Amino acid sequence: MRTFPDGFLWGAATAAHQIEGNNINSNWWLHEHDPELAARWGIVEPSGDAADSYHRYREDIRLLADLGMNSYRFSIEWARIEPERGVVSRAEVDHYRRMVDTCREFGVEPVVTLLHFTVPRWFERDGFWRADDAVDRFGRYVEAALPVVRDVEWVCTINEPNIAAMLAGGENAANLVAYGLPNPDLHVADQLLASHDRARDVLSQLPQAKSGWTIATQAFKSTGEPGADDKLLEYGHPRDDWYLEASKGNDFLGVQAYTRTFVGPDGPLPVADDVETTLTGWEFYPQAAADGLRAAWELSGGVPLMVTENGMATADDTRRIAYTQGALEGLHDCLADGIDVRGYLHWSLLDNYEWASGYRPTFGLIGWDRETFARTPKPSAHWLGRVARANALP
Ligand code: BGC
Repeated sequence: MRTFPDGFLWGAATAAHQIEGNNINSNWWLHEHDPELAARWGIVEPSGDAADSYHRYREDIRLLADLGMNSYRFSIEWARIEPERGVVSRAEVDHYRRMVDTCREFGVEPVVTLLHFTVPRWFERDGFWRADDAVDRFGRYVEAALPVVRDVEWVCTINEPNIAAMLAGGENAANLVAYGLPNPDLHVADQLLASHDRARDVLSQLPQAKSGWTIATQAFKSTGEPGADDKLLEYGHPRDDWYLEASKGNDFLGVQAYTRTFVGPDGPLPVADDVETTLTGWEFYPQAAADGLRAAWELSGGVPLMVTENGMATADDTRRIAYTQGALEGLHDCLADGIDVRGYLHWSLLDNYEWASGYRPTFGLIGWDRETFARTPKPSAHWLGRVARANALP
């Protein structure tokens, strides 16, 4: 039995656009429905009603709690809170506030993400992250959202700014990880860092709030061939390490890890033919979480860490359990080595809209019926719930 520290957070994560449904004022909804943009992004189907968690969040939070988990990471949607530039919807702020209250009602610690990739249509129209006033606009949104998180301890400012900067690079990004990552837009990266800092400033009004961002740690590995180590640094630094280094002094840092990528002298290599892969085409590599935690700990200079996403897309739930068992063993080794890890939030609570890849890659602990929305927890959900209740890994 491997035991975990008292107060360790055990739960699962989601993102608004991927589960709520009908997020019609967001830039992604626009991309999904504009034939040219949908083709450019390689979007296979629109998000539609998704899991209708916008209306069914209470059932989802209750299920998570009944399964034995004690924490839920969800994101709030800028496009709902500020559907037009400068127009704040009090009703939507109240909606997300009710989600926090519902978490509390069921004894669940909320971990709230302010921005999970999607932005309002008007923000994209007016220049996106490249606009001169992008940082101010984001800061004002965070101010508008303060009532949602007024007593929340864990607030994630921006989800995977490193992936967002690569998506902003404009290359086709239908499946980022499996086929090599585009070049990041470095100006957008700077703007995202400035927006993160601005959000942390705004949040500093709330004495209880711990704020940080969440980074996709990508476990880049050198093949060991001549020139590969230099390439690894050149390729990995602007995609990964830069963000971990920029987290120094933050209250915490979210680690999001799924797989690994080998880098040779000429750059990243496709996944080898002889390894097990997931429904997203990524290598089955449960050690990704531990690799990410170790890199984050070292490069951030010892900022408290939380695994804010980790999981796999599979139709075979026994592989999800095996993956998660492996990830948690690695996490436990990190704790034993003195790395300060506060929680493990599995990706994802529900099967969800996997961006351009649509609904086929199933990351959820809980499935749902596309017609009735009826939820069915998978064996992996019960398994993780038991681990959470025991605060120990068999
Ligand atoms: C993102 C999620 C996504 C998951 C699996 C992360 O990059 O934050 O939105 O669904 O990985 O691809």
